[in-house]
Amino acid sequence: MYKGNINLDILPEHIAIVMDGNGRWAKQKGFDRIFGHTNGINTVRQITEAAAEVGIKYLTLYTFSTENWNRPQEEIHGIMKLLVESIEKESETFRKNNVRLLAIGDLLRLPEDVNKKLQTCIAETSSNTGLSLVLALSYSSRWEITNAIKNIAKDCLSGKIDDIGLIDETVISDYLTTRNIPDPDIVIRTGGDIRISNFLLWQAAYAEFFFTKTYWPEFTKDEFFRIISEFQNRERRFGKTSEQIKSTKN
Ligand code: IPE
Ligand code: IPE
Ligand code: MG
Repeated sequence: MYKGNINLDILPEHIAIVMDGNGRWAKQKGFDRIFGHTNGINTVRQITEAAAEVGIKYLTLYTFSTENWNRPQEEIHGIMKLLVESIEKESETFRKNNVRLLAIGDLLRLPEDVNKKLQTCIAETSSNTGLSLVLALSYSSRWEITNAIKNIAKDCLSGKIDDIGLIDETVISDYLTTRNIPDPDIVIRTGGDIRISNFLLWQAAYAEFFFTKTYWPEFTKDEFFRIISEFQNRERRFGKTSEQIKSTKN
C-alpha cells in the first residue's frame, strides 16, 4: 500500500471526485450499466474509508449530475433505487468511521424517498466529527451559479444587500450550495475522459487536477493514496512565482 508515502502534516483538506466509467466497465464485462453503478458503490465505500483513515476533512463525490437526468428512464430509476438502498446500508460505515454526510445539488428534484433517506442520514450523522462526505446529487455548477445569482438579485431587491459594491468573492461563495465547505485542493476524474462536466467550476479555480484511465469500479485505495502523494509534490503557486512560494516556505 502506498499510504506510507503520504505526509500527514500537509494533507489536502478537500478532495473532489468525478466518479466516471461505471457504464463502460460493466459493458466491457458483458453486463448492463446498472451492474457498473452497483459495483461503483464498493469503490465509494473504500475511498470513503481511505479518506477517513488518513484524515481528509472533506470528500465530495459527483454522484448524479443535472445532465444525467437526460439518461434513459430505466437507468435513472436504477441509480435512484441504488441510492436509497446504499444510503441505508452505509449508515454503519458512516458510524464506524465517524463520517458526517452532506449533500449539494437540486435535491428537491430527487424522488421523494431518495431525498427523505438522504435527509435522515444527514441528520443522523450531523454530530460526527471526522470526514465530511459530500454527495453531489442532481448537481451542476451552472445550475448552482444561476441559483446563486437569482438569490443575490432577490436580496438586492429586498434590501438585504443594500450596496452592490459589497458583493465580493466571499459573498458569492456564500450563495453557493458549497457554503461552509472549503474549495477542493484536488479534483480527480476516473474513466479516462479529460473534462470537468459542469462540476465545481467556481470552487475548483485553483484545484490540482488528476485524470486516470481507471474505471470507477476499479479505482483503489492505493491509487487514491498515490494521487495524494503526487499532489504533495506539486508546487501550487496561486499566480505567484516559484521563488516567492519557496521564500514563504522557509
Ligand atoms: C458515472 O459513470 C456515474 C454516473 C454518471 C451516474 P457513467 O455511468 O457515466 O459511466 P460511463 O462514463 O458511461 O462509462
Ligand atoms: C459526470 O459523468 C457526472 C458524474 C460522474 C456524476 P458523465 O458521464 O455524466 O459525464 P459526461 O457526460 O461524459 O461528460
Ligand atoms: Mg460517464
